[in-house]
Amino acid sequence: MKQRMVSTVLAALMAGAGLVGCGGGSRGGNGSTVSGVALAGSGQTGAVSLTDSSTPANTMTTPSGSDGSYSFDVSGFTPPFTLQVEVANSDENSLLSEAEGAGKTDVNPITNAAVSGKRFCDAENGGRGSQTFRGLISQLRTALAPLFDCYAAGDPATDDGHGALKALLAAVKVQVQGKTVTVTNRETGAVIFTGAVDALSSGTFQAGALPSQCQAGGSTAPTPVPTPVPVPTPTPAPTPAPTPAPTPAPVPTPTPAPTPAPTPAPTPNPVTSANIVASCTSCHGLTSNTTVFLSGGYSKTGASSATWLSSVNSMLGLGATLAPGTTAQNYADYLANVP
Ligand code: HEC
Repeated sequence: MKQRMVSTVLAALMAGAGLVGCGGGSRGGNGSTVSGVALAGSGQTGAVSLTDSSTPANTMTTPSGSDGSYSFDVSGFTPPFTLQVEVANSDENSLLSEAEGAGKTDVNPITNAAVSGKRFCDAENGGRGSQTFRGLISQLRTALAPLFDCYAAGDPATDDGHGALKALLAAVKVQVQGKTVTVTNRETGAVIFTGAVDALSSGTFQAGALPSQCQAGGSTAPTPVPTPVPVPTPTPAPTPAPTPAPTPAPVPTPTPAPTPAPTPAPTPNPVTSANIVASCTSCHGLTSNTTVFLSGGYSKTGASSATWLSSVNSMLGLGATLAPGTTAQNYADYLANVP
């Protein structure tokens, strides 16, 4: 049994071509319809659903025709779209495909492998799209080139015009499990191809396991694999560095309006005229401004509180006493302010 590694150089070229061709809207069809053909390897295709990329997603479902054809009016829907078709009595169960926009997009086990592969790669890359649907379709076509050549099958995502792909899928089973794509010969059960979705070009292709109609002159002579002409590896388009989300300008914290310091309620002076008389006039008469506490002694006019304080303090030194709960300052303040 002859094995060969699919040429990395050719695969890279084809992957590059696939990436170039992945822009939406360039693939015919009228501007608001997604149509195509659902094709299962075995079993009848059932309802086809289309889910768009809005949040929350919009979904439409339509039965597929007896030939698997379907059509959706996607006016008002947001591309890209995911297509899913239910398959009755089949090992494929349900199949996926992806449409960049309006136009023609088929659903079959090969588009399913591409979507599953893309999802696997996205998940492995933390959601960053390292593989495109169209890129993976191209890589699968390259990896399975002898099979596609044998059936003269065209683009598996858009080429439903003839029975070539149907014949191919009737002869081989294309399955994807985890990251592994496996293609087996339905008749013999032999594995034709196995490879990881993120390294399809390093997959293993066994030409000897191809369906008998692909073996030139019977099963003894495998179809010679054409040697690919080496082409320079295309320089991968640089992945643009993700633009950092702009940091929102800090919202200035509003300066709290200064709480006015509460004006201390003036402490009422506890000293009374009677206190002055009691504390001060036992030794001498006293007059402050025009208030006569006791005539015939000391008289001060217009003296400040500070001046009175020193007098009161010296009186305390001489033996004067203050009324309970009062201070010399209280006496000074009182005396400075009496009329
Ligand atoms: C124990 C007696 C005595 C008591 C009580 C007394 N004084 Fe006098 N006071 C004096 C004497 C003695 C002088 C004179 C001493 C001096 O001139 O140095 C004087 C002087 C003064 C003078 C004039 C000197 C100055 O400092 O301007 C004032 C005013 C005065 N007293 C106010 C008061 C007041 C107010 C009180 C009450 C808080 C008071 N006195 C209580 C004995 C007393």
